[in-house]
Amino acid sequence: MNLSYEEANARAAKLRELINDYRYHYHVLDESTMTEAAADSLKHELSQIEEQFPDLITPDSPSQRVAGQALDKFVKVEHLYPMLSLQDVFSREEVEAWIERINKLLPTGFANRLSQEFFADVKMDGLACALIYEDSKLVRAVTRGDSRIGEDVTMNVRTIENVPLVLRASKHYDFLREGRVEIRGEIVMYKKDFENLNARRAAEGLEVFMNPRNLSAGTIRQLDPRLVAERNLHFIGYDILREDVHELPLNTDVYAAMRELGVTAGKPARALFGIDELMQYVDTWGTKRGALEYQTDGVVIKLNQRALHAALGVVGKTPRGSVAFKFPAEEATTVVRDIVISIGRTGA
Ligand code: IVH
Repeated sequence: MNLSYEEANARAAKLRELINDYRYHYHVLDESTMTEAAADSLKHELSQIEEQFPDLITPDSPSQRVAGQALDKFVKVEHLYPMLSLQDVFSREEVEAWIERINKLLPTGFANRLSQEFFADVKMDGLACALIYEDSKLVRAVTRGDSRIGEDVTMNVRTIENVPLVLRASKHYDFLREGRVEIRGEIVMYKKDFENLNARRAAEGLEVFMNPRNLSAGTIRQLDPRLVAERNLHFIGYDILREDVHELPLNTDVYAAMRELGVTAGKPARALFGIDELMQYVDTWGTKRGALEYQTDGVVIKLNQRALHAALGVVGKTPRGSVAFKFPAEEATTVVRDIVISIGRTGA
């Protein structure tokens, strides 16, 4: 079909909208608006138009995900805010002790019910990553590194299909599409994709990978983005950093904002009140962890009010306002201490 420039321009805009809507419904809302084959054919049509009219290529075009040459090495980048870690807890008593500790530190204790509200999400076992958007465009993706300085892995992260290259227009949070916004989350490989990949490798006589965590970390550190594009990784968000914490007072707001902007956010996340609700959440996900698409090693618990969380500050590399409740390991090393041989009555 021979399109005029104007026709091509209009069709390309329509195709981008359809493809980005498909991506948003599929990855953020868990709905499918068309088959994968239909989406692929739209992408193909768009790439043909872009080939004929290269100046119609926009930053949010799906053809711009895998762009650029392999790198020699990653460039180091300093984080604007350090990427902290969490203090681990293993029992209800330790959670209670944590609540008591923060209660004493807050000048007026927990002043009202809302300030006693917690927020919990499953702790994903992947690779921490910060996505930096400027005026709604993805400009940089940085690994955690040593918490202060990470590596620029933008080219690789752009290939992850559920990472928006441009933040979606949003009803309640459009102000976040202006200026700098940093979205933090975990890069994971879904268990089913990991198993499929390993099965394919085994069939080809190739070495299989140990676990999804090592594989996603190893993949993001590949220097050739084309290789990363083949691996089907996902980004699952858990935080938004902005200069003014009051723009998003609660972690519940952060998760709602991520979803409206087109970012996949942790689905199990909830606001919870009091130790009993917290422990029930921990037990539920400890039992149901197998049903999650990704590997998890615990639950992250924080104060829902972000200003209180910030006021509590940081000790070393861990914020006082959060803890990680760790599940017992799924894989463990066993020591055989003894073998007792006995002969039954029949001589067996
Ligand atoms: S909240 C202080 N939520 O766990 C940083 N972190 O030990 C806490 N992680 O490196 C951020 N899943 O990458 C948060 N749902 C979740 C998480 C999560 C995994 C990682 C995070 C951080 C580590 C903290």
